[in-house]
Amino acid sequence: MDLGLKGKIAIVGGASMGIGYGIARALAAEGARVVMTARREPALLKAAEQLRTETGADVLPIQGDGRRAEDCARVVETVVSKFGGIDILVNNDGAPPLGDLATFDDAAWAKAVEQNLMYVVRMARHSVPHMAKRGGGSILNIAALSALQPAVGFGLSVATWNGVIGFAKTLSLEIAAQNININTICPGYIETQRLEKVFTSQGDSEAMRASLTAEIPMRRIGTIEDVAHAVAMLVSPRGRYITGTTIAVDGGLLRSVR
Ligand SMILES: NC(=O)c1ccc[n+]([C@@H]2O[C@H](COP(=O)([O-])OP(=O)(O)OC[C@H]3O[C@@H](n4cnc5c(N)ncnc54)[C@H](OP(=O)(O)O)[C@@H]3O)[C@@H](O)[C@H]2O)c1
Repeated sequence: MDLGLKGKIAIVGGASMGIGYGIARALAAEGARVVMTARREPALLKAAEQLRTETGADVLPIQGDGRRAEDCARVVETVVSKFGGIDILVNNDGAPPLGDLATFDDAAWAKAVEQNLMYVVRMARHSVPHMAKRGGGSILNIAALSALQPAVGFGLSVATWNGVIGFAKTLSLEIAAQNININTICPGYIETQRLEKVFTSQGDSEAMRASLTAEIPMRRIGTIEDVAHAVAMLVSPRGRYITGTTIAVDGGLLRSVR
């Protein structure tokens, strides 16, 4: 099925590796013009070159830190001046540190709010007017399954990503009439360097991988493509009637009916 993404202008955050790179690749393979952001420029430029080689797409890397208000504004301004507008915004980056909630002070909380919540708020606020000018658009946030099924140690993310989910639901009501949708994907365990680090930090990484895999109804860790394909559909004209939703991409891991 042609997703109708040819020529669409898409910003993908945290796109130098992992899930973000996979999303950038899926959109580029569908013919989108892709803007990639990340903090570390050398890795970002290398990833952009790899994406051009893999897909032949028009790719624009822009260095930026999603936690900085001025970087969010600059990314959007640069995209508009170089590509002429914005059709798609994918908010994805890293995540706050793990640990028991009692161990985090105000500074750690403020950082987590900047990283997970304010990043999405600012990128959406700057991008929506440009989408409206083009007759519509699509915003997709990457959160995590822990936002729906909290786990010990993930508190900073659980709290701030639930802010994102509330923000997205409310914004969906406000921008629907402008033909702009916004949804949030909550991945379960996805095969990335980040997950590998989590495994190795626990000592016996193979034992941990095996026990997590046994918990997943589909009996496998998700792939980056599992997430990227869901994103590509949701941000495409094929997903245009879906808005304000939160979708788990988790092999059935979420134990809940809503
Ligand atoms: N992998 C999983 O199993 C899994 C499951 C559920 C949810 N998630 C969530 O999905 C997101 C992506 O995960 P991943 O596994 O793909 O992570 P990853 O492999 O560590 O990649 C993270 C990407 O985001 C960039 N980034 C990090 N902090 C940033 C910031 N402040 N501003 C701009 N870019 C930033 C990184 O580049 P720089 O460091 O150079 O900036 C990199 O390109 C995270 O929020 C993660 O919590 C992952």
